[in-house]
Amino acid sequence: MGSSKLRLSGSVRADACEQAEKVVDAKDLNGRGAVVTGAARGIGLAVAHRLHRAGAKVAMLDRKESDLHKAAAPLGGIAIEVDVRDSAAVEEAIQTAHERLERLSILVNNAGMGMLQPLHEYTDKQWDDILAVNLSGTFYAMRSAIPFMLESGGGAIVNNASVSASSPTRGELPYSAAKAGVIALTHGAAQEYGPTIRVNAISPGVVRTPMTELLYSNAEILEPVERSTPLQRTGDVDEIADVVHFLCSDASRFVTGQNIVIDGGLSLPQAGIDETLKWSLDMMAKAKAKRS
Ligand SMILES: NC(=O)c1ccc[n+]([C@@H]2O[C@H](COP(=O)([O-])OP(=O)(O)OC[C@H]3O[C@@H](n4cnc5c(N)ncnc54)[C@H](O)[C@@H]3O)[C@@H](O)[C@H]2O)c1
Repeated sequence: MGSSKLRLSGSVRADACEQAEKVVDAKDLNGRGAVVTGAARGIGLAVAHRLHRAGAKVAMLDRKESDLHKAAAPLGGIAIEVDVRDSAAVEEAIQTAHERLERLSILVNNAGMGMLQPLHEYTDKQWDDILAVNLSGTFYAMRSAIPFMLESGGGAIVNNASVSASSPTRGELPYSAAKAGVIALTHGAAQEYGPTIRVNAISPGVVRTPMTELLYSNAEILEPVERSTPLQRTGDVDEIADVVHFLCSDASRFVTGQNIVIDGGLSLPQAGIDETLKWSLDMMAKAKAKRS
């Protein structure tokens, strides 16, 4: 094992943050209107900040019960409450966003949720909800936004999938199935709407957000996952936002129909995903204890 493998994740993370400060602060999205779903916290909030910093006018969509208005205030963002499971409400929200943004040319489908438990314990409602938020919500927003994007001369769609789509992890199979559907929608829409609209997906690995709180509260689970990931750590929301920014900008003008994996190498064969699998039964037990 090389000496770099023995470095503590803290120092690896510090080095990465230092590098990140050198990322060019381009205003390359000036004049564009962007819709980001699930924008009240986590990855969606970081994406909204990044697109705003790049000059885009941002409409932030999230559930009524989220901290959406608090999150949107510092950005002067347009806050629109919507449950992405509701097709008519999504249509109305996108219409409102289009009117307020003037030009809707970017859509980031980020709202998502999952659970951890064995397949046979999922109820119909849980299955329906997971499919509705992750897959139907993405479909509804694309269906509503595409006519406006075509009208305004085109743009870019980025759908947030997961490494779980191609490497299904025990305990989150409905989530894996929904995210695999998101990647299929992405591939197909890239073909239907090229050259006017580019459509790409991202597949984050493990990223620190409220969604992954359970993993981060268990050092004995987190540490082996970090150690066996080629980049020796999990991700930060800004590292996902960097790639989303790229996919929304003209820097990626020849990229469409792709699923960009952002996981520090986690899903490479014999890397961290195997560690995650080793611990997934334990994670499921902890999730069950938390629910009861
Ligand atoms: N965090 C990770 O490690 C990770 C890994 C892979 C993929 N992802 C994906 O990234 C996206 C963001 O995840 P996150 O980690 O920031 O999670 P998060 O739970 O912190 O944020 C998700 C956001 O989506 C919103 N949302 C949930 N259901 C909604 C609904 N019905 N209508 C509208 N908004 C809704 C929530 O209110 C929240 O603001 C998700 O699609 C998730 O599946 C996350």
